[in-house]
Amino acid sequence: MRKVVSTVSELDFKVSDLREMPAPQKVLLVKPTHFDVEYVINPHMKGNEGDVDKIAAMDEWEHLKSAYTELGLQTRVIDGVRGYPDMVFCANQSLPFIAEDGAKKVLMSIMHADERKGEVQHIQKVYEESNYEIHQLDKKKFRDFEGMGDALWHFKKGLIWGGYGFRSSLEAYELISEQFDVPVITLKLLDESFYHLDTCLCILNENTALIYSKAFTNEGLELIHVLFEHVIEASKYEAEELFACNATCPDGKNVFIQQGCTDANQKMRNLGFKVHEFSTAEFLKSGGSVFCMKMMLW
Ligand code: ARG
Repeated sequence: MRKVVSTVSELDFKVSDLREMPAPQKVLLVKPTHFDVEYVINPHMKGNEGDVDKIAAMDEWEHLKSAYTELGLQTRVIDGVRGYPDMVFCANQSLPFIAEDGAKKVLMSIMHADERKGEVQHIQKVYEESNYEIHQLDKKKFRDFEGMGDALWHFKKGLIWGGYGFRSSLEAYELISEQFDVPVITLKLLDESFYHLDTCLCILNENTALIYSKAFTNEGLELIHVLFEHVIEASKYEAEELFACNATCPDGKNVFIQQGCTDANQKMRNLGFKVHEFSTAEFLKSGGSVFCMKMMLW
């Protein structure tokens, strides 16, 4: 089923109609060896140049890494590369998926900022070693596409939520829908502080999402409310300062989130989620948190 949907009137399926996809069991992590704030490509980075506490960053990252192991996921760790201080945000350089016949495929990103373009080839090596079929976007046709920063898989379903406006081009989603044979729901992003979809939409399980509503258009919000039975709203403070919506819920039950999101956590607990808080304070200085510091793989 392929189709790009941008308004509720174009919807002709329910989530339950979509093909099942297995939950990924592996996690790719990039060691923050060379992590720092060296340039400003999003509003969160302003004023933080050179201000990263490297020891604290490594400590925060190690904690997260062990939590994935505790959850029973297999971790794959690669070293960061000198000159690429943002490579630790390994949700951005690719969009992996598993086809209906079980074939592992990946679409590599075209990073929006020149400073990050060179990261993609290093991440591609991981897919080459793991026998993924590698797809590239034609750089003459597409300006940018930042992988799972903007393209989020619905929980265990053949459906992509595709954000655009700051880091990814809308046109990329036509091709993704065609190449992956899945529908894509496109969501225009309005606020520069929420420059990636993963900063304002967190898909917790098949019928629950955590969102920051002001980052979306009315059309986008309507789509979210039609396709998710439970929509939890994060406050401006928790979404913008603590990156609440950059949480991750790998198994549909356990949520990993930046510490201090008291309101969002209570709402998630009320719906039966188990919340685990982590400090990602050093990474917030760069405009990233839990979700974008990993890539789920099959
Ligand atoms: N400094 C990085 C950038 O601006 C942070 C990326 C965070 N990734 C994310 N998916 N939100 O590109």
